[in-house]
Amino acid sequence: MSKQQRAKLVVGNWKMHGRLAANAALLQAVAQGADELPADVRVGVCVPSLYLAQTQALLDGSRVVWGVQDVSAFTHGAYTGEVAAPMVSDFGATFAIVGHSERRAYHRESAELVAVKTQRALDAGLTPIVCVGETLEEREAGATEQVVGTQLDEVLAKLSADEATRLVVAYEPVWAIGTGKSATSEQAQAVHAFLRARLAAKGAADVPLLYGGSVKPDNAEELFRQADIDGGLIGGASLKDQDFLAICKAAAATSVAG
Ligand code: PGA
Repeated sequence: MSKQQRAKLVVGNWKMHGRLAANAALLQAVAQGADELPADVRVGVCVPSLYLAQTQALLDGSRVVWGVQDVSAFTHGAYTGEVAAPMVSDFGATFAIVGHSERRAYHRESAELVAVKTQRALDAGLTPIVCVGETLEEREAGATEQVVGTQLDEVLAKLSADEATRLVVAYEPVWAIGTGKSATSEQAQAVHAFLRARLAAKGAADVPLLYGGSVKPDNAEELFRQADIDGGLIGGASLKDQDFLAICKAAAATSVAG
């Protein structure tokens, strides 16, 4: 499938932000704004799992789908504090982010654990958004491809070709997350093309490849115009309805129908 045929996807990652009242206003504004987007732009929000019921109630019937930012590597059992993928599915969720660099760094999630979580999400009918990305030291050492290639390979190794086609992959350079310092469109495209080739070798060339890391209304369109960038995973800017919707509109401007 050519770039022209791949739909755009913009997903908000709220991280550990939000309260009931503010969520309601944000979700309603996003649902309303998304109504005006062309059909080939998909929009999602990944909320703290505690707010899944609220999110489902407010987004059901809208153009916006929802999900979580992590799932347990176990389906059920004595794992205090964990949230299992089938529980997430109970609330009509579409997405589960797995392997975000904040979880890899602050919760010491190994590549193997990320692979198991991906499998659990798939088994529960969720679409895993698998995050990969290098640190600044790794980039400066010329190790970007080796790092993101290994992170992706660890996941792909555990999946069948069919399962691999059901992923979303997000390239999020660690040095660009929450720093205001986005990768340039050339830097991002180069890594996306590399990841695309890796996925193609597994028979999954058409999985949506999102870029994440300081995406804002003023840099989104340039990023989304790149041949292998199918949309974005948006942190800080997904907490402001105007900014998030402006990013969705940038996706629309680069979509087939846009
Ligand atoms: P940011 O975060 O947009 O705030 O840089 C992106 C992410 O971590 O998913």
